[in-house]
Amino acid sequence: MYDKSMIKFLDLESINRRFDRHFKDSFDKFLKQSWIVLSDELKSFEHNFANYLGVKHCIGVGNGLDALEIVLECWNIGAGDEVIVPANTYIATWLAITRVGAVPIPVEPDISTFNIDPERIEERVTDKTKAILVVHLYGLPCEMNKIKQIANKYSLKILEDAAQAHGASANGVRCGNLGDAAAFSFYPGKNLGCLGDGGAISTNDDILARKARLTRNYGSELKYYNDIPGRNSRLDELQASFLNCKLPYLNADNNHRNMIASVYMQNIKEGVNIRLPGKPISEYYHAWHLFVILCPFSDQLSDYLRGMNIQTMKHYPLPPYKQKAYAGLHIDPEMYPVSNFIHDNCLSLPIGPTVTSEQALYVCACINEFSSQIC
Ligand SMILES: Cc1ncc(COP(=O)(O)O)c(C=O)c1O
Repeated sequence: MYDKSMIKFLDLESINRRFDRHFKDSFDKFLKQSWIVLSDELKSFEHNFANYLGVKHCIGVGNGLDALEIVLECWNIGAGDEVIVPANTYIATWLAITRVGAVPIPVEPDISTFNIDPERIEERVTDKTKAILVVHLYGLPCEMNKIKQIANKYSLKILEDAAQAHGASANGVRCGNLGDAAAFSFYPGKNLGCLGDGGAISTNDDILARKARLTRNYGSELKYYNDIPGRNSRLDELQASFLNCKLPYLNADNNHRNMIASVYMQNIKEGVNIRLPGKPISEYYHAWHLFVILCPFSDQLSDYLRGMNIQTMKHYPLPPYKQKAYAGLHIDPEMYPVSNFIHDNCLSLPIGPTVTSEQALYVCACINEFSSQIC
């Protein structure tokens, strides 16, 4: 029986402790390198991650937001353009659009997948629409076949926000290889996380890849010669070396997340107070970055679980259109009831490569106990 010591929402220390020796070895190797930025570890990670995704190009950048923004910038999306985006997502997805000067056009999610509802995209397409920015939220791939049909019909680009979907796949094709380009974040808590900030762009498009490579490095291929006005956003060499250590374990970690998700799916009793995430269809491999349940008493449930030594979080308490940062967009929240419902009711349970099945069973028992008390 589980001893009931604190179940952390994200136990980074135990996740990274597994790589202790690897990290130290790679740091020692790194200290001997004479060229420290845009060097061998980054090149090797870009090669390894591109192979893992099955794409031609991977370009390491400073973080996930920069990855999204650089792609939009390279596609010349800017002032006067519109980009379709899920109403419910982390704010970074929207920030990439507004930072290039374009307008985010929110689309409601599907309540069972939490992902953008493909049936509601077409009604938001206008002659200003340039791209659809999909988010494989919580690690579940979006319904790309339907989205691709719309993109083809209106000649729109598809950018995947795969920040939460390392290793997820649809019909055997990995997220990161399902659109025209994709953006990854390697923020420490991600399924593939480094020990600081990091990000990458993946694409099969040679022209975009070259432009993104230039853009992340001051617009320069040859030192001190600048072909385009770029910026400085390079995936750090040391972070790339940590990612090289961790990448071979990503599939096993994702399988473990799937095992914990099955424990939750099979043991948490659904009812009026608790709604479980929809079961992904068999052709989809969920990366289960987050396991999110819906509960009308999510705050009380979170407090109750904290009292039982279980940490939870909300992803996310406020949608982008309710954030002060976007007051200037004057978006009417009433237009997005499904998204509002998710944000108001969501609660994320501990899931990760070091959560044990005993811990997960204890979480289920506590949730079931809370549900029975509240009825
Ligand atoms: C869906 C989504 N998009 C983009 C990002 C941005 O990534 P980063 O924090 O590396 O900039 C995140 C990070 O949390 C995210 O969850």
